[in-house]
Amino acid sequence: MKNKAVYMTGLNKMEIRDIAVPQIKDNEVLVKLEYVGICGSDVHYLEHGSIGDFIVNGDFILGHECAGEIVQLGSKVTELSIGDKVALEPGCTCGQCEFCKTGKYNLCPDVEFLATPPYHGCLENYIAFPANMCFKLPDNITSKEGALVEPLAVGMHAAAQGNVKLGDSVVILGSGCIGLVTLLACKAYGATDITVVDVMPKRLAYAMKLGATRVINAREEDAVAKMDEITKGKGVDVVIETAGSKITIKQTAYLVKRGGTIVLVGMAPEDIIEYNFAKIMAKEATITSVFRYRNIYPKAINAIAKGIIDVSGIVTHEFEFEDTAKAFDFVINNKNDVVKAVIKIG
Ligand SMILES: NC(=O)c1ccc[n+]([C@@H]2O[C@H](COP(=O)([O-])OP(=O)(O)OC[C@H]3O[C@@H](n4cnc5c(N)ncnc54)[C@H](O)[C@@H]3O)[C@@H](O)[C@H]2O)c1
Ligand SMILES: [Zn+2]
Ligand SMILES: [Zn+2]
Repeated sequence: MKNKAVYMTGLNKMEIRDIAVPQIKDNEVLVKLEYVGICGSDVHYLEHGSIGDFIVNGDFILGHECAGEIVQLGSKVTELSIGDKVALEPGCTCGQCEFCKTGKYNLCPDVEFLATPPYHGCLENYIAFPANMCFKLPDNITSKEGALVEPLAVGMHAAAQGNVKLGDSVVILGSGCIGLVTLLACKAYGATDITVVDVMPKRLAYAMKLGATRVINAREEDAVAKMDEITKGKGVDVVIETAGSKITIKQTAYLVKRGGTIVLVGMAPEDIIEYNFAKIMAKEATITSVFRYRNIYPKAINAIAKGIIDVSGIVTHEFEFEDTAKAFDFVINNKNDVVKAVIKIG
């Protein structure tokens, strides 16, 4: 067994290095990774070296969206077998705090999340990982789809936080990877009228392909005015912000129906944003937010296996492991074209 990892060695610098195959603990499995998705956060670390308070210090392995095959079992692992294909949920939590104990483990302050400094990511051949964070993929799910469970889980958590249900009307602001997985999730949760807003025609075309009811190009039309026209001034049941821009965050107050819900997913570069709270008061609307996801992996895998969610349409580009540096370069220089690039770990 030989293990190689792609290290980020500085801003926009990457190199492949030989590393030891990790030793597994009793409760861990050794996973031979097969696919790793490139996330906006990986690209951000590579270009800028930090996200908020998380600062890359020294050489660092990126990647947190992954799936592979189990090749070794820890002595206490009973639920998984060698040869199982699994998707890895990247956030390992303490299990002891108030949030872990109440099931909201995504809020655990002591989470160790792949590719979030100081914890290395998974752009490597082999990883040792807790068995209870490895979710078995049925035979009809590929490990490529398995790697997409991570972003899908964000979209499903957004739909769940918005309490999206049968017959709901939804506006999704932003048609990047997260906007598109949110679209897939809202459809699966029963929304029957979904409008997706973006400024890039290519991304809006993907939204139509993946089942949006309609799209609005915010460069050509004012999204709020257009939705007012469509809903006769009533607004929609659920507004989900995935663009991460102050413009779209502000729009949520105007787009939501009386009694509706606003879900904030996108992370704006600004901490403080002007917002019309008077609108929200009069509408008795709920504002909620999303931090990653919790208790979603089994549901997401089931939904893919049963054909209720087809996540494969999200992947627009695929690269070989040896070409990881080129892949990141391509993603950085072709942001309009790339929705989701994945690395095949050979
Ligand atoms: N809350 C969480 O747990 C969580 C998890 C993952 C990602 N995120 C955040 O979600 C956001 C989306 O992630 P992504 O990977 O899809 O990013 P992305 O950059 O690929 O997508 C954002 C999209 O928003 C569009 N956009 C920008 N300004 C707009 C405007 N004024 N009107 C309409 N559309 C506009 C862009 O054209 C782009 O297509 C990011 O801010 C990311 O940090 C949050
Ligand atoms: Zn991600
Ligand atoms: Zn905890």
